[in-house]
Amino acid sequence: MRLMLALVATGLLAACDIGTEERDEVASTRTVQRSYSPVPPGTIARGTAAREAALAPPGPEVTRDLLARGEERFRAFCAPCHGTSGRGDGTVVSHGFPPPSSYHEERLRALAPEQIVQVITHGKGRMFSYADRVLPEERWAIAHYVKDLQSRGQGPSPDQGLAKP
Ligand code: HEC
Repeated sequence: MRLMLALVATGLLAACDIGTEERDEVASTRTVQRSYSPVPPGTIARGTAAREAALAPPGPEVTRDLLARGEERFRAFCAPCHGTSGRGDGTVVSHGFPPPSSYHEERLRALAPEQIVQVITHGKGRMFSYADRVLPEERWAIAHYVKDLQSRGQGPSPDQGLAKP
């Protein structure tokens, strides 16, 4: 009888050990998964403080180079919806995406560059955030390019050649 109890106890301990091992396996799989979790493209491993500093106004000095970079990034990331002239008539919109307001409307003309940086960072309403694709400095470049577009006024749309009502 004592032997039986001992065997049962050993069996239980063995079962417990297996249980522990299985849990360990799961735990180590989780660890592996975490270290392999995909990093969004364009992300740089920097501290939150550095990122916040890069987003704090007034941002980088506005130079020709910055505006040129802003134009290039704007055309890649924003024009598909906002249109190359900012009228809200990009190609995505012609495929049924709800059109954003024109940048040339009074309310959007009044936006400060840092507010545009905020919209790129956090998104707004139906527009999602571009923080994982557009670096902080590029957000400033785009924001100043948008202000530049606005200051030049609403020209004819080169996107669709359609007159807007
Ligand atoms: C997939 C389409 C799409 C893309 C791409 C896009 N936007 Fe937008 N954006 C929108 C829509 C839709 C709105 C209107 C949001 C709302 O009010 O619901 C908007 C609104 C805005 C506004 C006005 C916010 C306000 O105060 O009303 C700004 C500024 C803006 N976008 C800037 C940008 C910039 C800069 C980029 C590129 C980095 C960009 N957007 C890319 C769809 C887009």
